[in-house]
Amino acid sequence: MERIVEVEKVTFDSAEDAGLRPNAWEDYIGQEAIKGNLRVFIEAARKRKEPLDHLLFFGPPGLGKTTLAHLIAREMGASIKVTAAPMIEKGGDLAALLTNLQDGDVLFIDEIHRLSPAIEELLYPPMEDFQLNIIVGSGPAANSVRVDLAKFTLIGATTRAGMISNPLRDRFGAHFRMQFYSEAELSLIARRAADKLGKPIDEDASFEIARRSRGTPRIALRLLRRVRDYAEVKSEKRVSLARARSSLDSLGVNDKGFDELDLKLLSLLVEARGKAIGLNTLAAALSEDAATIEEVLEPYLLANGYMERTARGRIATIKSYEALKLSPPASAASLF
Ligand code: ADE
Repeated sequence: MERIVEVEKVTFDSAEDAGLRPNAWEDYIGQEAIKGNLRVFIEAARKRKEPLDHLLFFGPPGLGKTTLAHLIAREMGASIKVTAAPMIEKGGDLAALLTNLQDGDVLFIDEIHRLSPAIEELLYPPMEDFQLNIIVGSGPAANSVRVDLAKFTLIGATTRAGMISNPLRDRFGAHFRMQFYSEAELSLIARRAADKLGKPIDEDASFEIARRSRGTPRIALRLLRRVRDYAEVKSEKRVSLARARSSLDSLGVNDKGFDELDLKLLSLLVEARGKAIGLNTLAAALSEDAATIEEVLEPYLLANGYMERTARGRIATIKSYEALKLSPPASAASLF
């Protein structure tokens, strides 16, 4: 049985999301290619009675990286410890985490690209041969002590594939890039979650939520909870399409799932009339930090052709105009 130890995780999930998390492999919807590969690796490791190789997950927030880590631990019949890189400030923090693991356990480190170089280096020997080098004392009296660790599996997650150093990346046995979810997958996730919440949702209403969720289960679940609030206040037993639409409109989520910030970003691109805009200029104009724009806002827009990223900066596409319900300028052909 999986035991779950949450080690001060920095998380955007609400406690309720954790309750809605699938706890069986079969209930995890989507990411079929990743699931297929993982099943093979898990079965092979179990047959060899070895821990699973270290795994690295890339992708925008909210696509189920943590959820997958929990399912992997469960499949391996192991415990999982969940933490995030900013929580590991000193060598002692890492040592405490690693020395508390047992054979087969999973250590999940979210935002792994944010480990400091010193901590990252300390992590290499544990990843390679389950040994930790601890420096005891300081100055000329300092001594390095080797500690044998349990044979654990490190699962790293990051929103920034490009920010992982090569030596760290190379120490993971497999890398997985999480994909945005289809509307059909998101609507199924929303319907199952609605049943769990005791407020079933009509199929067409679940698709309406899916369409506005930017390919992201975390967003679908958040919108579902808000739509449920509206249905509850109106004393409705089920969530209908009309209720889903009116609630989502009231929440300011438009028919493509874009909120005010997305629309502002798209407007800036369109107003540039074919000129590229640099990330820092966008960040200043939107009063957002550049990392949030790059990691949270842009991936969905890029994946769906609502903008393009070039060496000179970000540019509008025909779909940027469509998203704003504007017609592209007559000269657009020369722009795209
Ligand atoms: N909740 C969050 N992500 C999920 C997924 N991929 N499948 C089912 N439920 C989820």
